[in-house]
Amino acid sequence: MAEQTRKRVLSGVQPSGNLTIGNYLGALQQWVAEQDNYDCFFCVVDLHALTVPQDPATLRAKTREVAALYLAAGIDPSRASVFVQSHVPAHTELAWILTCLTPLGWLYRMTQFKDKAAKQKQESVGAGLLSYPVLMAADILLYQAAAVPVGDDQRQHLEITRDLAQRFNHLYGETFVLPEALIPKEGARIMGLDNPLVKMSKSEASEYHAVYLLDPPDKIRKKIMRAQTDSGREIRFSTDPQRAGVNNLLTIYQALTGASREAIEAQFDGKGYGDLKKAVVEVVVDTLTPLQERYQALIREGGYLDEILAQGAARASEVANATLATVRERIGLLPALTPVSSKS
Ligand code: TYM
Repeated sequence: MAEQTRKRVLSGVQPSGNLTIGNYLGALQQWVAEQDNYDCFFCVVDLHALTVPQDPATLRAKTREVAALYLAAGIDPSRASVFVQSHVPAHTELAWILTCLTPLGWLYRMTQFKDKAAKQKQESVGAGLLSYPVLMAADILLYQAAAVPVGDDQRQHLEITRDLAQRFNHLYGETFVLPEALIPKEGARIMGLDNPLVKMSKSEASEYHAVYLLDPPDKIRKKIMRAQTDSGREIRFSTDPQRAGVNNLLTIYQALTGASREAIEAQFDGKGYGDLKKAVVEVVVDTLTPLQERYQALIREGGYLDEILAQGAARASEVANATLATVRERIGLLPALTPVSSKS
């Protein structure tokens, strides 16, 4: 079978806010590029979203929205399986089994846990926030994924996934493929437009922080034209924190156009920050307009999306359940038998 000869990819996005161009450049754009190279599984990780409080109706709507955005961004469901994490219960079962193999120290070290926990009162930090990376490891290992296309902020979670796979393989025999993070060369860490020293995030409240994938063109223009820059004039890529705003705009431009740094610097030689911003508005709007049109069409005829998600979950379950059956057997869980039909 052709599918088994191709290596697998798994990745996901949390339906926990409005997807940003950071999510697009760090994740979706790569997924689309890789869908011919791998047997791909892309899930909407709704269970991960539960690690912080969610309104039930909003969570349901966001889950469909994110799935529709995958397709609108160019994921082709005839080539990749698109599904909702909670539709494949194997994820939670493997997560529990791996939780029992995870030293607490590994989890307390995660920078994302430290950052998110610091934003909440200590007594309200849920245990789910701490064990979050174990569920992510389960997502990946169930599919024996060789590669996981993600942005730079997920590096540490990929390391813990590999550590857990190695620990399991060492204790119970070779079971899991060790996954590699696939981090894009450009756009792996898009920064906030209003504060280029923090990562652009879908859960940031301030209005001028992020361009959302569903923002109308005039909003995109406003946000980018207001992006924080500096008092300099030179338009060059730079690692100087003082120049992080201009560097971020150049990075967005580069990741969306695919042009080289040299070509971009030559293009803006002698121009002002306003020219750079206008050019960024143009490429962002040109990328997002067709995506938004496809998104609207998918949401209008909702039945198609639901069918894709049902098919995706069926295919994902086949693969995930096969891995889980091996895991159950290796760790010594008693097989559940089907009852012999009761006396009439
Ligand atoms: P999430 O939902 O925070 O982000 C989804 C993807 O977008 C990338 N990303 C960014 N890339 C560049 N610049 C940014 N500013 C930016 N912000 C976010 C993220 O790196 C990610 O690739 N833990 C994951 C979800 C997850 C997952 C998985 C991913 C759960 N299970 C299994 C891969 C495989 C998360 O919270 O992503």
